[in-house]
Amino acid sequence: MNDATQVTAFKSTNTVWHDATITRRVREERNGHRGLILWFTGLSGSGKSTLAHAVEERLFAMGCNTYVCDGDNIRHGLCGDLGFSPDDRVENIRRIGEVVKLFMDAGVIGLTAFISPYRADRDRARNLVVAGDFIEIYCRCSVEVCESRDVKGLYRRARAGEIKEFTGISAPYEEPEAAEIVVDTGVEALETSVRKIVDYLVAKGAVSALVKSACG
Ligand code: ADX
Repeated sequence: MNDATQVTAFKSTNTVWHDATITRRVREERNGHRGLILWFTGLSGSGKSTLAHAVEERLFAMGCNTYVCDGDNIRHGLCGDLGFSPDDRVENIRRIGEVVKLFMDAGVIGLTAFISPYRADRDRARNLVVAGDFIEIYCRCSVEVCESRDVKGLYRRARAGEIKEFTGISAPYEEPEAAEIVVDTGVEALETSVRKIVDYLVAKGAVSALVKSACG
């Protein structure tokens, strides 16, 4: 099911697209920066959420409009009907791709922190938007390090067989092959990873260097 070419059954027929008068460009002009998707991927415990929120704090301090969609939080609401089977993960990531695209259309820098274990699903989210709007950030951290941290105690429970289909233990994680940014969250300091990402955005002209130097 995790095939990027899979077409979701489309049941919403007889609907007509309505173009917005307040467009993305208008919103971006008022915000003073581009709408953008920062897609963090990596194992549970690799530091995706911590890093996404730290990057958000930095961008917010720089005057950017931002929002983090976090895997555990979204599964309390929008995706609360989904589990961790391959099909449910596909649907989870499909929904998040669509949601974060809405944030981007609203001129916001949307940050997502989901394991998003399947390459095809991440690529499908990427292909919803034009090149340059989607920045994949691989939070590279070995299973051994994630398991030794085991912040939520889930690895221990997965090893004990209490949690089935646990990513890295009994379910796969497909590493990105061409992520725009790779951060070694297993070894480098949080501040180093934050700087790497913000510097990338400034270098690409996505956010203003002037604002950056003013805010540190
Ligand atoms: S994803 O695979 O569909 O992208 P998502 O990021 O939404 O996963 O949720 C992952 C979080 O759910 C983990 O950080 C962990 O807290 C929790 N979790 C519960 N069960 C599992 C499982 N079987 N595999 C991975 N994470 C799980």
